[in-house]
Amino acid sequence: MRVYYMVLAVTILCGTALTARLSAVLAEGETPAKRQLLVEGARLWPVYCAQCHNARPGSQFSPAQWDAITMHMKTLSNMPAKDMAAIREFLKEAR
Ligand code: HEC
Repeated sequence: MRVYYMVLAVTILCGTALTARLSAVLAEGETPAKRQLLVEGARLWPVYCAQCHNARPGSQFSPAQWDAITMHMKTLSNMPAKDMAAIREFLKEAR
């Protein structure tokens, strides 16, 4: 039930295509803390990552590449580590 509400919130924020991918990720039996992180990442990704260029989708790079890219973008943008951690996990899993 809780997952349903989270997915609903993401639907409103990010659109249905993204939600389809995210709900597939959430259905894989992640821990509640990990789910919370992914939902937070899905919410923050368009907020932060479209400020200087188009927000690149998770599918565009491998998880290892996302580790390097998000470290670089964190340095460029000076965004909070907690927010970047959520976005990084979301980009690595939502593909
Ligand atoms: C403060 C501005 C800024 C913000 C915010 C920002 N970026 Fe960037 N990003 C850049 C710049 C400038 C470049 C190109 C130059 C470079 O790589 O240093 C870039 C390049 C990239 C590239 C490489 C593009 C390619 O096609 O090769 C990716 C991927 C990327 N950013 C992802 C992200 C993600 C994910 C976020 C959000 C967490 C983000 N960026 C937030 C400025 C920003």
